[in-house]
Amino acid sequence: MTIFKNKTDLIAFVDTIKSDKKTLGFVPTMGALHQGHASLIIEGLKHNDFVAVSIFVNPTQFDNNEDLVKYPRTLDSDVELLSNISEERIIVYAPTVEDIYGNDVISTSFSYDGLEHEMEGRFRDGHFDGVGTIVKRLFEIVRPDNSYFGEKDFQQLMIIKKLVEKYNIPVKVNGCKIFRAKDGLAMSSRNTRLKPEYRAAAPFIYKTLNTAKEKFGTKSANAVTKWVTKQFAEHDLLELEYFIIADVKTLKTVKRKSNKKSYRAFIAVYADDIRLIDNIALN
Ligand code: PAF
Repeated sequence: MTIFKNKTDLIAFVDTIKSDKKTLGFVPTMGALHQGHASLIIEGLKHNDFVAVSIFVNPTQFDNNEDLVKYPRTLDSDVELLSNISEERIIVYAPTVEDIYGNDVISTSFSYDGLEHEMEGRFRDGHFDGVGTIVKRLFEIVRPDNSYFGEKDFQQLMIIKKLVEKYNIPVKVNGCKIFRAKDGLAMSSRNTRLKPEYRAAAPFIYKTLNTAKEKFGTKSANAVTKWVTKQFAEHDLLELEYFIIADVKTLKTVKRKSNKKSYRAFIAVYADDIRLIDNIALN
């Protein structure tokens, strides 16, 4: 497996891929790779000759310094996981902060036509500026034909699609289904930090989303939101930050349901000090 620590070498390698007329898929990650990432990479390998995986804990997208410091960094086991998928067709880019940002570790300010003001944008100051900055920079360095993002971060996926459209970046952005543990918990690098009792409690999030989906068939968005809020208020370990039913196109909270629109329920929950997010398509 070829691992690049700096962009100059990676750029030269991508040049050879391009001159050989081979296709390149791309899965950007912050490392601590799990089966959810593996599913994106496997999807990429189905449709491209090579898949580049970036492993970079991007400082500008964290609004909480403790979260940044505690974010798991597991390069050796990440490389092992990738080698088990494919030694020959995966390229790793694991840069330093300096290779990406030079001396200015700051993000650019982006407008994503309002998508950035909803949900995660309300609770994580500057988060989507940081995500836009790193993803745009990685797209410019890696120059993939296709990129793959998980629907667990559905708002991020929509924002990346908007970024690509606004800046005419020549890459296809593909959304991939949420990969779940057997008990329903959405795969996340943060899950490894859950204490056992919180890990045992966490599948309640997906269970509640499923019941919310069922209720949405007959009840208003407001009634479902109230019901979910009550379930978490009565839960001993999990603390609800938000539950929102939103229009999938605008991500705006739904006031009145229309059968011409598609909706999704989005949730953010604290399990101790670990923040977990999830979402489900409702219709
Ligand atoms: O989803 C993530 O892991 C990150 O937000 C991303 C897309 C790799 C950018 O740092």
